[in-house]
Amino acid sequence: MPTREEILKALETESVEDLGLKGTLADITKEINLDEKGNLVLKILLPKRGVEDILKIKLMNALGDFEDLNSVKVEFFTPQPPQAPPQAPQIPTLGPGLPAKRKIPGIKRVILVGSGKGGVGKSTVAANLAVALKENGFKVGLLDADIYGPSVPTILGLKNVALTVNDKQRIVPAEKEGLKVLSIGLMLPNEDTPVIWRGALLMKAIQQFLYEVDWGELDYLVIDLPPGTGDVQLTLAQNLIIDGAIVVTTPQDVALSDVRKAVAMFQELGVPILGLVENMAYFVCPHCGKRSQIFGEGKVKNFAKEKNLSLLAEIPIEPIVSKASDEGIPVVSAYPESETSKAFKKLAKEVVEKIPAKG
Ligand SMILES: Nc1ncnc2c1ncn2[C@@H]1O[C@H](COP(=O)(O)OP(=O)(O)OP(=O)(O)O)[C@@H](O)[C@H]1O
Ligand SMILES: [Mg+2]
Repeated sequence: MPTREEILKALETESVEDLGLKGTLADITKEINLDEKGNLVLKILLPKRGVEDILKIKLMNALGDFEDLNSVKVEFFTPQPPQAPPQAPQIPTLGPGLPAKRKIPGIKRVILVGSGKGGVGKSTVAANLAVALKENGFKVGLLDADIYGPSVPTILGLKNVALTVNDKQRIVPAEKEGLKVLSIGLMLPNEDTPVIWRGALLMKAIQQFLYEVDWGELDYLVIDLPPGTGDVQLTLAQNLIIDGAIVVTTPQDVALSDVRKAVAMFQELGVPILGLVENMAYFVCPHCGKRSQIFGEGKVKNFAKEKNLSLLAEIPIEPIVSKASDEGIPVVSAYPESETSKAFKKLAKEVVEKIPAKG
């Protein structure tokens, strides 16, 4: 069980300066009450309305490593008389007049693909899920919202495709065999251009992606998120009605707190979680066809059980996956009969069952 001091120390690791305040979470925490059962109640100053979610995410990031904590409850209080703290730079959409969540016209279902940490195969899952859905006859779009490391253009072989704007000044997504694809990667002059978009610019770029794109009619829009629990996730969840999130993890990763944080973030933001995808779950020997659970077995299943989540698919690790991605043809198209492709098709089937594209 952590001590009060340890909790305070952990709160010091999360800055609140992006909310226009000085210091860290510890500086706006006025009371820490922890009972012997590990139930923690924090009293936290709310600098302005609309930042409750971001503060909760910061809290989860700060406290996520204390596995002994049974529950964390936050009581926000506003200063009396209600006065804003020293003039802070406003983060659009997080200030008082929080915009209502909207649907993107013409799109029936929106699915987020996220993960606690990087490199677990989010983009691979997002791209192959999109292709598998499309092959089931659905109209599908794939939005690469990983502004920090877009990889969808590479996976789909669309690196050199120029985007166009139609006569209504709306962005026309690229198209790959009927799959509509939009990525910041497609809007950059070349892949070495650094994209350091923070705050207002970032929000604006995402809003543009959401509403200024001519997607046409779509049954499913699959969104590939950057890793972790940051601004992009928050902006999307606050602006958009999302039908479900898929959390990608690997057997090694699930033991860590990152995936817990990702799950907690979606729950906190009110985004329904469709389930987990265990990527690189096992290795199929290309010679004898035998499966081996090289990274250990059962960890993701147990985690899913603990959190009452579905394990939507277990994707094997196969060299053809990265080979296909490097060649710009997702494995589901390039090797449709492979074990991996079958797993991705199962994932698509689970998604359609959980959130059918309504007529
Ligand atoms: N099942 C798999 N079998 C073999 N290789 C895989 C598999 N899944 C992903 N990879 C490879 O692992 C690497 C990371 O995958 P990917 O880019 O999809 O991860 P990511 O979570 O989107 O990463 P980032 O956090 O950087 O966005 C890629 O080279 C990809 O081809
Ligand atoms: Mg990625």
